[in-house]
Order: sequence, then structure tokens, then C-alpha cells
Amino acid sequence: MTAPLIQRLLMMADAPDVGARLLAEDPAAVVAVAIGEVASRTLLYLGPEAPIDVQFEVDVPAAGQVTYLLTVGPDGPRTRPGRLGDPWVYIRYDLAALVRDVFGPSGPWTGTGRDVTMKDEPGPVEYKPDDPWLVRRDEATRAVHQVLQACEPYRGSLTALALQFGSDKWGGHWYTPHYEQHLGRFCDQRVSVLEIGIGGYHEPDAGGASLRMWKHYFPRGMVYGLDVYDKSVLDEPRLVTLRGDQADPAFLIDLARRYGPFDIVIDDGSHVSSHVITAFNALFPYVRPGGVYVIEDLHTSYWPEWGGNGTDLTDPATSVGFLKTLVDGLHHRDRIRDHPYRPSYLDQHVTGLHMYHNLAIVDKGRNTEQANATWRPRQDPMSDLPAPHRATEK
Ligand SMILES: C[S@@+](CC[C@H](N)C(=O)[O-])C[C@H]1O[C@@H](n2cnc3c(N)ncnc32)[C@H](O)[C@@H]1O
Repeated sequence: MTAPLIQRLLMMADAPDVGARLLAEDPAAVVAVAIGEVASRTLLYLGPEAPIDVQFEVDVPAAGQVTYLLTVGPDGPRTRPGRLGDPWVYIRYDLAALVRDVFGPSGPWTGTGRDVTMKDEPGPVEYKPDDPWLVRRDEATRAVHQVLQACEPYRGSLTALALQFGSDKWGGHWYTPHYEQHLGRFCDQRVSVLEIGIGGYHEPDAGGASLRMWKHYFPRGMVYGLDVYDKSVLDEPRLVTLRGDQADPAFLIDLARRYGPFDIVIDDGSHVSSHVITAFNALFPYVRPGGVYVIEDLHTSYWPEWGGNGTDLTDPATSVGFLKTLVDGLHHRDRIRDHPYRPSYLDQHVTGLHMYHNLAIVDKGRNTEQANATWRPRQDPMSDLPAPHRATEK
């Protein structure tokens, strides 16, 4: 099955021969997808207070020019093919440079393949601050600033995006700094992200705050959301909603075979311990090496109404009790040194566990570091040290 155009563009954007690869694509469709992405990103930046048309003129080798309009202003962005007689702003791009800027990683080349032109003054202008032409020109300047930022990957903080889209991953919960610490390295990568729990429960058009946040934090990423309710009205380019139950392992495996493997899986779904454990066991094998699996809202692990247990703190049927078993799995080679033991998939592939308040981040890789050697001294390891350093001496 051929990947959708936007995924093909994400794949070719950082290839040295992007120009040659684009020859196989319909240039008008490529421009429409790229300007659509730019339009969605304009929401992240301040724009003009009155609508301004920005005209994109995209040069296509041996095929002329494709023109496209992006209107920005207080009513949000609008795009349409076409050209105006005398727009306020023209942005002229080479097709390959447009695809590289919008869908590629940022670098010193970003922005080097375009010309920006603003309308010339119609004649001598009286420099009065309320001159209508000058006021309009100021709006156009804001529009250029907004649109040019949107032509490049977002480089701001995750917390700012959480606030912008209304995700409770900051405020209520305080997860975004931890996410930035662990996921910041993926920002420029072509990641695939799955979040369980879209939000809004039975309301079809409610929720999706974090999916939108991830879409912009990973400007080269594909973001998938899973919920028991149909949320398809929230779909947009690079954001795909799926419907199903995280407690159903067969469904999850089928989903992962279809849309995975994933670099990042986040469980913010039912928060029922048995569902959390089922989803982890089904989906962790479909996390790429070097990727992470995140479980949010672990407080429910202590609440019996959510299948938790606040008294037996090692109960492996609770989310936190289960995570504790992964700590032992991480050390299985040392633990089983003198005993026959068949390591499980999780023993062999969990390479790190990071616990924060209500949040666990599990690293995926190959847990193959050798066990410590048996000859290591069994007597007091401090006994050779000079007296002041001996643990037993006061
Ligand atoms: C806390 S909200 C998710 C919020 C969202 N992750 C965000 O940060 O914007 C939980 C969502 O999980 C969904 N959910 C509940 N049980 C589920 C299950 N068994 N499988 C999949 N989704 C479930 C609910 O319908 C609800 O929309």
C-alpha cells in the first residue's frame, strides 16, 4: 500500500535527492499539503489583527509555477490555490526547498531557498502613524513574520504547546518538563507517536488537546490517538484517531502491526491497572529500539476502585507493582546468576525506568549488559580502606 502523500514528503524531505524524488509527485498536490502544514503551524505564532493574504509562488523545475494563497488573521488561517493581482506579501520558493523547510529537520540551510517580497509603497507616503497604508503594511509585516516562522519546524517549549492547546500535561499534572527531558531528542526525527486516550470521552468532537500538542512538538512526526469512542472528527494531516479498547490485546497487536512500530507510546487512557498492564504487554514489543513507553496518572494504582491496591505495595496486578517487577527484570542477569532462568521479553528489552510523581517512562532497547562476575569480593568491600573511610569505623 502506498503511504499517503504527507508521509512520502516527510520521508523525502531530508534526502539529498529530494528534488529528483519530487519529480514523481503532482506538484500542485505537494504545494497544497505543504501550505496546509504551514497554515496549521501559524496558530503557534502571533499574527496580524486584520486578514492578510500571503501569496506563495512555488517554482517547479520544467513545469512552471504553482501559486497558492494563505490568509492569516484573527479568524485563523485559510488556504486556497490561486493568485492575486497585487498581494501584500509574496513568498517565492523552489519546490524542493519548500518541502525541505516544512518537512525536513532544521539546519543552516533552513530558509535559504526562498525570496520574500512585500508590496512597494505606492508613491511618497506621509509618515503619520495612522496613515492607512502604513497601518496595513504593519499588519502585513506581522503576517510575514508569522508565516515564515510557520514554514520551519517549531523550536519552542512543550509546556507552551500544552498551554496553547489546553493539554493537562502541564497544570493539573506537571509532566511536560519530564517529557522534554526524555523526548526532546526526538524533535527533529520522523517519529511515530501513539497516545492511548484522546480525551473528551463520549463527546465526539471534544478532546485531542495532547495529540495537537504532540503534532507540533514533533513537526516531522505522525501522531496516532486511540480511544474507545469515535473521535474521527478530530483527524487532521499527521494526526490520526483510532477507535478501540486498550484492554483488548488482540486489537492492540493488530493496530500496532498496521500503524507501528512506534517510537513513543503514551498510556493516558482508562488508568485501570489491568488495562495499563495489558496495553503495556501488547504494545511494548512494537516500540522501536531507543524508543520509550510512558504511563501517566499512576496515582490510580493505589485506588481499589481503579483496580489498584494501596496496602500491598508489591502487588504485581497494580500498575506501580507491575513497574516494580520491571526493575527486577532490568537486573535479571545479576539476579539469576546462580539459578536456571529463562529471561522474558521484558527482561531482555527494558533498558531503563524513570519514575516521577504519577509518571513512568520506560526505555526500550536490548538489556544485554553482562552480569557482575562471581569473583567479586564477598567480604566487607571497605575493609582495605584506611580507617577514616571504613563504613564500620566511627
Ligand atoms: C484522560 S482522557 C485522555 C486525555 C488525553 N490523553 C489528553 O492528554 O488530552 C482519557 C480518555 O481515555 C479514554 N478511554 C477510557 N477507557 C479506555 C479504554 N479502555 N481504551 C481506550 N480509551 C479509553 C476515554 O474515553 C477518554 O477520552
